[in-house]
Formats: sequence, structure tokens, C-alpha cells
Amino acid sequence: MHEYEAPLKPELAEIIKVKSETPSIKTFDVRFVDKKLQKQFAFLPGKFVMVSVFGYGEMPISISSSPFEKEFIQLTVNAVGNISNAMHRLKKGDLIGLRGPFGRGYLLQRFRRKNIVFFSGGCGLASIRSAVLAALAKKDMFGDIFLFHGCKSSKELLFGKEIANWERRNSLNACVSVDIPEKGWKGHTGFVTDLIEKKPLPVENTVVLMCGPPVMVKIAIQKFKDLGFKPEQIYASLERLMHCGVGKCGHCNIGREYVCVHGPVFSGSQIEKMHLEEG
Ligand SMILES: Cc1cc2nc3c(=O)[nH]c(=O)nc-3n(C[C@H](O)[C@H](O)[C@H](O)COP(=O)(O)OP(=O)(O)OC[C@H]3O[C@@H](n4cnc5c(N)ncnc54)[C@H](O)[C@@H]3O)c2cc1C
Ligand code: FES
Repeated sequence: MHEYEAPLKPELAEIIKVKSETPSIKTFDVRFVDKKLQKQFAFLPGKFVMVSVFGYGEMPISISSSPFEKEFIQLTVNAVGNISNAMHRLKKGDLIGLRGPFGRGYLLQRFRRKNIVFFSGGCGLASIRSAVLAALAKKDMFGDIFLFHGCKSSKELLFGKEIANWERRNSLNACVSVDIPEKGWKGHTGFVTDLIEKKPLPVENTVVLMCGPPVMVKIAIQKFKDLGFKPEQIYASLERLMHCGVGKCGHCNIGREYVCVHGPVFSGSQIEKMHLEEG
């Protein structure tokens, strides 16, 4: 499926595996029913698909798997409302509809030889994971790779084992923080944005790629700027309510920007001109 071919027509995909990640988040491995489509499907980390849960509706979901994985794609879904809860009730063998991939991703190919700081909160790690997997698969192309991730509690930690493996195998520097102190938790405590002042980071030749709740994005951008990062060194994926995903319905705009086509990943310079709500 190409993003410009019949962009409003969902294609059938089969759920081939469901994994519970946290009490509210599941990862679905899905494969297009049309084998040719599955083979052709290509995307950049940070792009999203419109997922139809039949009988409930459609929602935008980032692709959380590596762009180099050709057998299936992964969708990591937080159950927050009607459609996402309906998706959580689906099982292996059930069918969903997919449109996309849509939007602008993290454009890792522009960051050759640069250090990369991945920065995420909560389910924002779903979109960041795809970029981390892509960067680690081409590790020689980049400088040092860092991951800062925050979640409410250790129970809510998404991809915890995977983060530990990335750290061990690929010399990625990871820092995970839980919001509230917890017995037995060996990582950091406090908001993930507090780590920005605490952890020494190279500013020169470094880019920050982030995804998370709007309040985290807003605070993190300011803190990175206070450290000396220029807005053009920072990229953040923004969330908006979406209907069409292709710039037609006008549901996702922030000022002049349509998050579905001009984003969801925007540079810090673009974000400075946008009015971001907190939430
Ligand atoms: C580009 C993009 C990528 C996304 N990627 C993922 C992902 O990988 N995994 C994931 O779990 N979710 C992702 N989301 C969010 C996801 O689309 C929403 O959580 C989903 O639409 C909720 O649908 P629902 O019917 O279950 O909940 P609803 O009943 O529609 O909403 C439940 C609550 O969430 C709020 N809400 C719903 N959608 C949004 C939104 N887009 N922005 C802010 N608040 C919202 C509603 O106002 C309401 O308070 C992404 C959103 C965008 C725009
Ligand atoms: S979701 Fe319709 S214009 Fe962006």
C-alpha cells in the first residue's frame, strides 16, 4: 500500500499476535491479508496508520516496529477510550482495517554522524521504538545514542526488557524514570523532564527526537533549549484528534499546520510558532 494510492480505502490486515505490555497497553503484530501489499509496505519511523476496528471506528496509531521488518508491522495501543478498548478485545486471527502510512516521520537519514537523544513519555515510546530500532540497526551511521523514558510507575513501563537489552547489546545509554517513588525501583524517580538537567548530554552535533504527552513535550523542549540546544536540533511528534489522516477533514490542525500531513513530527522551530495545549 502506498500512502498516495487510494488513501481513504482501508486494507484488511490480520492480527497474528497480541502481547500485553502493561495493564493498559498491548502490542498487536499485524499482517496485510494481501501478501503483495505486505511485501511492498514501507514506512519511516514516526509515521502512523489509520486503524479501523470494525463496528467501532478508526484511530491513528504509530507503527512501533522496525522499518526493516517486512513480515509484519506492530501497533502498540493504549486502551483509553471506545476504539482502543475495542481493539484490546481483539484476538489472534481477527481482522482490522489499515490505511497509510501517513505523515512525516523522524527522518533519521538526515542525522548521519550525529548523536541522537530519544525522549519519550508513556505510550509515546511506541513511535520512538521504531526509530530506536532503525537507528540501532544502522548504529555505525550515528554517534552516541541516548534514550530517556518516563512512565507513571514501573507497572506502566513499556518495553522495559527491550530497553535493558538495547542498553546491554547496543551501547545505548538509557535512563528510565517513574513519576512517583516506589519500593524496589532501582531507576530514577520523578518526571522524565527532570533528567534533562541531571544527565550530562553532548549539545554539539546532537538531535533530540521526542514523543509523549503535550505537557512533557512543552517542558522538555524548553529544558533542552535552556541546555543550549537550538530549536532546529529538536523534533517532536504531536498528537491531535484525526479523522481522515490525509489533510481533507480539518480535524487535526494547529493553526496552519495539519498534523496528519505536515507532521506528526515537527521541528522545534515549527513548534515555536504553534500554540500547544497542555494535557
Ligand atoms: C499521529 C498519532 C499517532 C498515535 N499513535 C498512537 C500509538 O501508537 N498508540 C496509542 O495508543 N495511541 C496513539 N495515538 C493516540 C490514539 O490515536 C488515541 O488514543 C485514540 O484515537 C483513542 O481513541 P479511542 O476511541 O479509544 O478513545 P476516545 O474515546 O476517542 O478518547 C479517549 C480520550 O483520549 C483523548 N484523545 C483521543 N485521541 C486523542 C489524540 N489524538 N490526542 C489527544 N487526546 C486524544 C480524548 O479526548 C479522550 O479524552 C496516536 C495519535 C496520533 C494523532
Ligand atoms: S485528520 Fe483530517 S485533515 Fe488531518
